Amino acid sequence: MKLRTALRQFFLATIGMIGTMMTFAISAAAHTSGADVFAANCVVCHQSDGQGVQGDYPALAGTVGDDVHSRAGRAYLVQVVSFGMSGAISSQGADYNGVMQPWPQLSDAEIAAVLNYILTDFNAKLLPAGFKRYTAAEVRHLRGTPLSFDQVRAKRETIVKPLAASAMKAH
Ligand code: HEC
Repeated sequence: MKLRTALRQFFLATIGMIGTMMTFAISAAAHTSGADVFAANCVVCHQSDGQGVQGDYPALAGTVGDDVHSRAGRAYLVQVVSFGMSGAISSQGADYNGVMQPWPQLSDAEIAAVLNYILTDFNAKLLPAGFKRYTAAEVRHLRGTPLSFDQVRAKRETIVKPLAASAMKAH
């Protein structure tokens, strides 16, 4: 009898512990902080306010919010963070010719979180009405088709040039 009671208590305690651990793991995954991912990996170049360093590291603030108005632009942001990019680009009238490294060490959830952070904190005014936050599933899907640095830059050309042209027409 005594042994059975002890065993039952041990069993219940173990179940309880596993439950706590699982809850913790699930909430950690659900609460991946984009601000933390950004602070740990991106601020050295793009700066904590996302303003970048003119001529060296392009600004992510007040710029990439324009990209999420199209499907291709939405995809591009996942692609540039996942696969990297190099070569000449222009942003806010300044020229850049650096290397954005790929980030295979970041999880799908972390890439979704860091992009959502950049977009909602640094690009709020540029977002389309009804902007949908990135999900890990969307990131996973796009990461399934790897691109080279040049291919990513070519994607950027197709997205940013038409934007610049339409901005010019509007003025
Ligand atoms: C070592 C410096 C460095 C780090 C760290 C870095 N980037 Fe970059 N990033 C760059 C450079 C340089 C470019 C422009 C590449 C070029 O000139 O082709 C760029 C481009 C980008 C772009 C495209 C901007 C545009 O106008 O199209 C995005 C988005 C971006 N980075 C996001 C991130 C995120 C998110 C992180 C952190 C996970 C990060 N970067 C970390 C240097 C860096």
